[in-house]
Amino acid sequence: MINIAILGYGTIGSGVAEIIDRNNDILKKRIGDDIAVKKILDLRDFPGDVNESKITHDYDEILNDDEINIVVECMGGVEPAYTFVKKALLKNKSVTTSNKALVAVHGSELINIARDLNINFTFEASVGGGIPIIRSILKCLTSENILEITGILNGTTNFMMTKMSEEGSDYDDVLKEAQSLGYAEADPTADVEGHDSCRKIAILTSLVCGKQVDFEKIHTEGISKITATDIKYAKVMGRSIKLLATSRKEGDSYYALVAPMLLTSDHPLYNVNGVFNAVFVKGDMLGDSMFYGSGAGKLPTASAVVADIVDMSKHLHVNIYVDWENEELALADYRKSRKRFFVRTSDDESKVKDTFGDVEFIRVEGISGEIGFITDKMSEEEYEKAASDINVIQMIRA
Ligand code: HSE
Repeated sequence: MINIAILGYGTIGSGVAEIIDRNNDILKKRIGDDIAVKKILDLRDFPGDVNESKITHDYDEILNDDEINIVVECMGGVEPAYTFVKKALLKNKSVTTSNKALVAVHGSELINIARDLNINFTFEASVGGGIPIIRSILKCLTSENILEITGILNGTTNFMMTKMSEEGSDYDDVLKEAQSLGYAEADPTADVEGHDSCRKIAILTSLVCGKQVDFEKIHTEGISKITATDIKYAKVMGRSIKLLATSRKEGDSYYALVAPMLLTSDHPLYNVNGVFNAVFVKGDMLGDSMFYGSGAGKLPTASAVVADIVDMSKHLHVNIYVDWENEELALADYRKSRKRFFVRTSDDESKVKDTFGDVEFIRVEGISGEIGFITDKMSEEEYEKAASDINVIQMIRA
């Protein structure tokens, strides 16, 4: 019998209980054993909930229950999740989590504890919601030297950008809608300022290079400065604005960056809309591939958690090796990376040409007192130097 304890009974935790109940027969067959939720840790009360009888407010009840073999952490945030997860592992219980904040900070330590104890710490749902990107990197792309990972890794912001550009929706209204659908973080600043995407690209980069990536060293910009005027320019250019998280191989290292970017219609991520996430992976042998699916929300995310439960149930006392050591990766300097830049300025064409050379100008009917232009490829450093000579209203990487 596989007995599960769920820590946190919010959107994802309740989704995990629902899937274990609704798909119980399939899970039983795939695991080769019965599976049930035995206890749920939550600070709130759930009168009338079908799982009310399983709810406890005392973590020690779970920790000291030797029949519980797998703990599912869906609380979010680093503490107390970290303390609870570590204690569970040290009690020989395998753990799966959907918590990217926890994995980004303590991933390598928890993986190494699990490895030493011949149990497992898994985190498929921490990146890309229901998309099986972590298992694909760890089990399927193992012959590849991965050269690039670029993803739309945050469902909330992609949902917002899609609604704002397709329906002309207002930023605050569409953020509220994403919250009501269970997509947004408890503090949605983490979504709109790119912090959530940053942690996710840090996790993917760690898995690709086998070392710890410090997410705080990744340059991160969110979507909060994107305006309706930017969207009008994007439409005239036939481009879409997406919050991208990217990591590219540079010598022996990777540089990483999170920022809104303008995509042309031939880019594989151009048509990824709504709450969908997608992860574009370039390998040196495979070439280009893309993983696509629901990036947030109750059942899609819980589906990835339950897939981890199945995997761990089949490997109860066998560690599934994850190459992620404690050693920190020295990230390459993103300011040396080259790309094009879309700029809106209140300066005139001749000033722009004097500073940036022969650029492509973009004009939007009805917008006056400014012009837009796209530079040739240049480094971030070169851009910053040139941009300091003109009055920049907005810059979006292209
Ligand atoms: N707030 C996150 C998102 C949830 O919108 O993508 C899934 O990690």
